[in-house]
Amino acid sequence: MNGELLMSFQTWAARFLQQVRGVNPFDGDCLPTRVSLFGFGRPTLPFPHPWNYKDPIKIFETFYWDAEKETGSGKHNRYLYVAGLPPVLLTREPAVIRAVLAATGDKPGQFDRDTSPTAGIARATGEDSLLYANGPAWRRQKRLSAEPFSRSNLFQPEKFHGFEQTFRKTVAERLETLRSHQQASGKKVIRIELEPEIKVVMLEMLVNNFFGGRVSYQELRERFVPALVLLIDHMIRDTVAPISQSLCAMFTGRNAILKQKRADFEALTDIALSGRAEGLGLWKQFKSDATDEALRSNIRVFLAGAMEATTSFASWAISHLAHAPEIQDQIYEEVRELSAYDPDNLASAVTLNRVLEETLRLTPALYFLPRRATVDTWIETTDNRKMFMPKGTHLRLDVWHANRCEEFWGKAVTGYPAETFAPDRWEVLARKGITAKDMLHFGFGHGPRFCPGRFLGLLEVGLVVGAVVKMFKFTAVGEETRAKAGVSTKPADGVLVDLELRT
Ligand code: HEM
Repeated sequence: MNGELLMSFQTWAARFLQQVRGVNPFDGDCLPTRVSLFGFGRPTLPFPHPWNYKDPIKIFETFYWDAEKETGSGKHNRYLYVAGLPPVLLTREPAVIRAVLAATGDKPGQFDRDTSPTAGIARATGEDSLLYANGPAWRRQKRLSAEPFSRSNLFQPEKFHGFEQTFRKTVAERLETLRSHQQASGKKVIRIELEPEIKVVMLEMLVNNFFGGRVSYQELRERFVPALVLLIDHMIRDTVAPISQSLCAMFTGRNAILKQKRADFEALTDIALSGRAEGLGLWKQFKSDATDEALRSNIRVFLAGAMEATTSFASWAISHLAHAPEIQDQIYEEVRELSAYDPDNLASAVTLNRVLEETLRLTPALYFLPRRATVDTWIETTDNRKMFMPKGTHLRLDVWHANRCEEFWGKAVTGYPAETFAPDRWEVLARKGITAKDMLHFGFGHGPRFCPGRFLGLLEVGLVVGAVVKMFKFTAVGEETRAKAGVSTKPADGVLVDLELRT
């Protein structure tokens, strides 16, 4: 047995012994409590497997099963520790989430992004992307993308206007199609799932307006969006059960379909890169001698990831508004005279901004953020509490449940119950002098691995939501909209609404 193997065996044996003896491997003031592998009455098992992976939020709920009987931090910080493997820590405590995110990066001893829940994404997009890479490779990618995604760049008047105008034109054209469809039906109200429409507009803005590509709406809708949707689904299955997934693909003929969809994805990546030589779209701001080949994994991540995240964000915002006609009307009053969504106009659309903030809080696109302790680590929260985590701990920063926890976001703190969609809570908080920056909801992350696409995403989603409200009134068909979750969360009903033209 060589030295390295011996050491891993010793570590495994030490963990296994701790697990059998029930020793808590964590320490400090915010001590996590243990979740057992099996238990009666729980929603599912506390880890993903081929029969529950489509409902990850349920897996997280299992961690909190019976947690109410714990006190203090033990209610919100829960760990699974089995089979000699490193512990998996799930936390819905905002102070702990914030401390871990702030201590993530490429410096010695900092947390890495845990790549285990995204292994399938890396196989499909490449391992050296900004999203997937850790350490020096991540730092290199971050430097490369800093300039084109910076606030000063996207919101600088002449650059912003260029994007804003083409984005607005794209959105207007698509809504016009929807309007004609509505008029041609001869009905006052049509019933339609809006999420598929939103997805195409989001990809169109990204490929044609942001990357300066030239691809028809038809081709995006019929070829590229279906290819991305199938590949994203494949990425999730390929992460949870890679072996059964590839066996299944081999025997069902799915391999041939996957091959075709991968070729489509490569063709779309080529289209996004094709504007580089002419300096179109964002490429004007992109100064680097990296070869096109070296940029491919990032482009793939931007295309698939950004379509997914912006679609989730816009779909949720429209879905929440579909349950709240009075808020739609308030936004309508704000945007009816708006002809351009420049930063000043956007800032003055107060209700729209609060709706976007509240959407990300209640229904964040990325419902958890994965991290891994690279060494034995002590973290310190802003209120000076400490937690020790052993090297190798897999952290699941559970933003979804943190933002729905009454203790942190409920009536006593924000004026409204945590699980209610209430844009006015931001007004209550503002009156107390508390901003979104103080009350982090982590909708775009926090710390060094904060989302570089935030300004672009906000611009796109603000435009789409504003434009939809300006043209239509829409009402949710179901009384309540449930969530589904994969790479991101989405309304389970595909944003099924009754759509009516505003007169
Ligand atoms: C508007 C909708 C969007 C939402 C809600 C969103 C959300 C997030 C969140 C929460 C993170 C942090 C992940 C973590 O800490 O583990 C993140 C990271 C990232 N986002 Fe976004 N995002 C959006 C749009 C975009 C767009 C438009 C792009 C690019 C075109 C983009 C590219 C990325 C990349 C590359 C990272 C990884 C950054 C790093 O690890 O350093 N996102 N996003």
